[in-house]
Amino acid sequence: MTEFSSDAAIWVEGLKKSFGDVHALRGIDLSVPRGTVLGVLGPNGAGKTTAVRILTTLLQPDSGRALVEGRDVVREAAAVRRLIGLSGQSAAIQEELTGKENLEIIGRLHHLSKARSRSRAVELLEQFGLSDAANRTAKTYSGGMQRRLDLAASLVGGPKVLFLDEPTTGLDPRSRLGMWDIIRSLVEVGTTLLLTTQYLDEADELADEIVVIDHGLVIAAGTAEELKSRVGGDVLEFTVPDRARISEAVSAVAALGESEPHADKETGVVNVGVGGRGSDALVEAVRGLDAVGVRTQGLALRRPSLDDVFLALTGHAAEEEEELNGKRRNARSRRRGRGGPSGPDGSGENSDAAISTAAS
Ligand SMILES: Nc1ncnc2c1ncn2[C@@H]1O[C@H](COP(=O)(O)OP(=O)(O)O)[C@@H](O)[C@H]1O
Ligand SMILES: [Mg+2]
Repeated sequence: MTEFSSDAAIWVEGLKKSFGDVHALRGIDLSVPRGTVLGVLGPNGAGKTTAVRILTTLLQPDSGRALVEGRDVVREAAAVRRLIGLSGQSAAIQEELTGKENLEIIGRLHHLSKARSRSRAVELLEQFGLSDAANRTAKTYSGGMQRRLDLAASLVGGPKVLFLDEPTTGLDPRSRLGMWDIIRSLVEVGTTLLLTTQYLDEADELADEIVVIDHGLVIAAGTAEELKSRVGGDVLEFTVPDRARISEAVSAVAALGESEPHADKETGVVNVGVGGRGSDALVEAVRGLDAVGVRTQGLALRRPSLDDVFLALTGHAAEEEEELNGKRRNARSRRRGRGGPSGPDGSGENSDAAISTAAS
C-alpha cells in the first residue's frame, strides 16, 4: 500500500475491476507526484485502459480508491472532470467537423466565451502544427494529425492532470517522434501526466517513473534504468534458420550472459542479456557460433524492449492469453495491433462524452 501524500496528483489504492469473469484490474496501487510523468507499461490486455477509464471517471471500480488532486474519482467525479484531460484510445474528435470547429466546440463545453474558444483553438492548432489544416474536416487528417488534434482537444480546458492512453500506438516512426516532442513540452509547463504504453523505449523517453502491469497487477515499478538493469543491460539477439540447431546455438552463447539465453523454438530467435559488454559480447558470440558451425541471421545488439523486461520479470514473454471457446489461445500477435475492446458493457460504464460535457 502507498501512503497518501499531499504532493500526489494521482493516488490509487487497491483498485479492482472485473468484466464478468475477466479480472481486468486485480488490485493496483500507484502514486504520481505533482508535475511528474508516470509511464504505465504493459502489453495489450494488461488493464491499462481500464485503469485510465476509472481515473477519468468514465468507469466505476468494483473496489479500491483513486484520488486525482485529492478528489475521489467516484464520489467527486464532477470535480475530477474539471481538473483532467484525456486523450488516446477513446478519441474525442468528430470527423465531420474541421480541426478548428472541434476545438471551438470543446471550448464552449468548457464554458469558455465564443471569442475565447476561438482564440484558444487557434493557439492550440498552432502549437500542434495543425494551423494549415485548421479548416479541413478531421476525416481528411492523417493518423498522426488526428492524434495531435485529439491531444489538443484534451488541453482546451487547461487540465492539471493529463491522461494519455497509448498516444503513439499505430503511428509511423516520424509522427511518433513528433508526438514525443509535444508530450515533453506539456511536461515542461508542469502538467502531471499519466501515460500508458506498450513500449519500453517510449516510457524510457518520457516517464520519470514506470509501473509495469500484467494481467491487472503491478509486477514492477521504478525508473527506466532500474527496469533495464533487471534485464541486464543490452540484449544480443539472432535467428537460427535451422531450428534443429537452436540448442547448440544457445550453448555457444550461454557463457556471454548473466542469465540463461532465451530461445523461441518456433521463430528460431535467440536472445541473451549481455550487460554493458557491448561489442565485446558481439565478437565473442560470432566466434562461439562459428566454432560450432551454426549459421545465424541478423546477429545484433539492441536495447531492452518491453518483451525483455517481461522475460526478466516473469520468465515468460509479454503474451496475452485469452479464453476462447474454452481453449487457451495465445494472442501475442494482437499486441502489435491497435486498441483494446470497445463498446459499453453496461456495468458501471459512463458516457465517453462525460468529460467534455460535465465541465462547468
Ligand atoms: N468493457 C469491457 N467488457 C469486457 N471486457 C473488457 C472490457 N474492457 C476491457 N475488458 C477486458 O479487460 C482486460 C483489460 O483490458 P484493457 O484495460 O483494455 O487492457 P489494455 O488497455 O492494457 O490493453 C482485457 O482482457 C479486456 O479484454
Ligand atoms: Mg488499452
